[in-house]
Amino acid sequence: MPRHLHDRVAIITGGGAGLGRSHSLELARQGARVVVNDLGPGAGEVAHEIRAAGGEAIEFVGDVTRPQDMQDLAALAIERFGGIDILVNNAGILRDRSFAKMSLEDFRLVLDVHVMGAVHATQAVWGHMQSRGYGRIVMTTSSSGLYGNFGQANYSAAKMALVGLMQTLSLEGAKHGIRVNCLAPTALTAMTDGLLDEDAARLLAPECVSPGLVALVAESAPTRLILLAGAGSFEAADITMTHGVYLGGTHDPVEQLCARIDELRARADMLVPASAWEQARHEIAKAREFTGAVTGQATVARPVQAAQSIPREGGGEWPATPQGQGPRRTG
Ligand SMILES: NC(=O)c1ccc[n+]([C@@H]2O[C@H](COP(=O)([O-])OP(=O)(O)OC[C@H]3O[C@@H](n4cnc5c(N)ncnc54)[C@H](O)[C@@H]3O)[C@@H](O)[C@H]2O)c1
Repeated sequence: MPRHLHDRVAIITGGGAGLGRSHSLELARQGARVVVNDLGPGAGEVAHEIRAAGGEAIEFVGDVTRPQDMQDLAALAIERFGGIDILVNNAGILRDRSFAKMSLEDFRLVLDVHVMGAVHATQAVWGHMQSRGYGRIVMTTSSSGLYGNFGQANYSAAKMALVGLMQTLSLEGAKHGIRVNCLAPTALTAMTDGLLDEDAARLLAPECVSPGLVALVAESAPTRLILLAGAGSFEAADITMTHGVYLGGTHDPVEQLCARIDELRARADMLVPASAWEQARHEIAKAREFTGAVTGQATVARPVQAAQSIPREGGGEWPATPQGQGPRRTG
C-alpha cells in the first residue's frame, strides 16, 4: 500500500477521540509523524496506540482556545519532529439549543472553540509553513454550517466561519505552497451519539471519513475544496453565485426585485467565484452591458465574460482574480 504522507509531520487538534482519533491513526498509517492534541488523557492514549502499532507520535495536552497552548503545540512539533507539514483543525464541541433558548455564553464558547481555536492553531503554524514553502491545512466544517440545522445556530455560524477562513487562507497561502481545505464529515462519535439509528450508526464509522482527510493533506492535495465525507461516500460543496437579473435601468427596482426573486435564483449556469472580486466584476460587467441599451425595461442578464480588469471609481483597477483564475461555471 502506498504511504501518502511518508515523513510528513502532522498536528491534529482534538485528536484524542472520535474523528480526531481516527484521523490521527490514519495519518500515522500513511507514514506521518503525528502530534496528537486534546484537552485530556485521550491525546496520550491515541499517541500510545500509534506507537504500539509501530508509528511515531507524541501527545500535547492543551486547549485550542488558548493561543499560547497552540504556540507551544507548534514549538513541540518543531522541536521533536523538525517541522510542521500538516495541521488538522478538528477540535470541537456542541452546545445545542434553539436560538430562543441559547445563552450568549454558549454561543461565544462554540465560536471560541471552533473558530478561534482554528485561528490560534493556524496562526501558530502559518509563518513556519510560509517560510518552508509548504503546508497543508484542514478546517473541519459541517453540513450544519453549510446547510443549517435546527438547534445549532451557534455551531452553524462557527462552522461556516471556518469556510470563510479557508477561502481566504487558500488564496493567501497559494504562493507559499500552503493548501487549505475544508472537511465536512458525518460519523458516529461522542458528538453524534444518540442522534442516529442503529443501522445508520453502523454505516457511519469515523474510519470511513479519514481517507478523505488524507486526500486533503497529501502532497497532491487540492486547495479550497469543501469535501463532504461519510459512510464511504465523498462529495464536494461550492459557494456559488447565480447570473441574476439586472434592474439598474428600471424605475421600480424594488417591485421588480420582489417579483423576480425566483428568476434571480435560477441555477442554470451558476458561477463558482474564484474570489470576492468576482461579484463586483460580474455586476460591473452586467451594468456596462446594459447601460444605454435599457430604456426603463428590466432585462434578464445574459452570461457575461468577466473583464480582465475593471477601472475603479477614483482610479486604479479591481485586482485581477488571484492566480489568473476566472469563475468556474456549474452545470
Ligand atoms: N461527528 C460528526 O458527524 C460531525 C459532523 C460534522 C462536523 N464534525 C466535526 O468534526 C470534529 C470532530 O468531532 P467528533 O464528532 O469527533 O467529536 P468528539 O466529541 O468525539 O471529538 C472532539 C474532540 O475535540 C476535543 N476538544 C474539544 N474542545 C477542545 C479544546 N478546547 N481544545 C482541544 N481539544 C478539544 C474533545 O476533547 C474531543 O476529543 C468537530 O470539529 C466536529 O464539529 C463532526
